[in-house]
Amino acid sequence: MNFDLLVRADPQAVAQEAAQRVAEIAQEAVGRRGRFRIALSGGETPGALYRLLVAEPYLSRMPWEASHLYWGDERHLPSGDPGRNDNQGIALLAEAAIPGVQIHPVPYVAGDPDAAARQYEAMLVDQRRPGEPLLDLILLGMGTDGHTASLFPGTPALLEQQRLVVPNRAVYEDRHPERITLTFPAMEAMEVAMFLVTGASKRSMLHRVLAPPEDLPFPVQRVQPASGRVLWLVDRAAIGS
Ligand code: 6PG
Repeated sequence: MNFDLLVRADPQAVAQEAAQRVAEIAQEAVGRRGRFRIALSGGETPGALYRLLVAEPYLSRMPWEASHLYWGDERHLPSGDPGRNDNQGIALLAEAAIPGVQIHPVPYVAGDPDAAARQYEAMLVDQRRPGEPLLDLILLGMGTDGHTASLFPGTPALLEQQRLVVPNRAVYEDRHPERITLTFPAMEAMEVAMFLVTGASKRSMLHRVLAPPEDLPFPVQRVQPASGRVLWLVDRAAIGS
């Protein structure tokens, strides 16, 4: 697996580095394609990054009017439910001048997560222009079990080879188990994948996944954009140095 690894002192320094990189990737995308499309991640780690992006200097540096927000995964719950991933990003980024039509939460279809996944995929495909990556950037986290987005070890979503978005189900901590997730084929079509991993609880899994691939790689190891651009931003507690 090819990737760049950057180690920073603590979660705040990781968020700083991430904000800098997001702003650069956003400017690069707008320069090349006239817009910047980013998939946010759920979990707790990216909160510090979102807060930085809506504070100076990043607030002015980000091309907000040309930015389009998506989510790499979502808990299949009605809009506004506190268990959804998008609450955090939407609330924080409300400060940024992103036109509402450029914010694309994962839909909720009561009792039919497969329909919700298909709707999200259709929207992503519809918005992709010829020659573009599926999205310019996907932010990702890593669970202590090696999952990323809602691609959990041993679940059917890992086997998907065609669809870009599928439903999935997994119990992890106290989070809602019914999920919608982008798949490995979707990850392959990204321009950049950026992992944010902090804290000592992630150390043992981080060491396993950054080592040469095992026979049955963990989901995080299978995120391989065709562009080859994978970035891991981790703190010292996570890497153990
Ligand atoms: C989710 C996520 C998930 C998350 C990891 C890490 O829906 O929960 O998208 O993949 O990124 O579980 O979560 P933390 O950042 O909270 O450790």
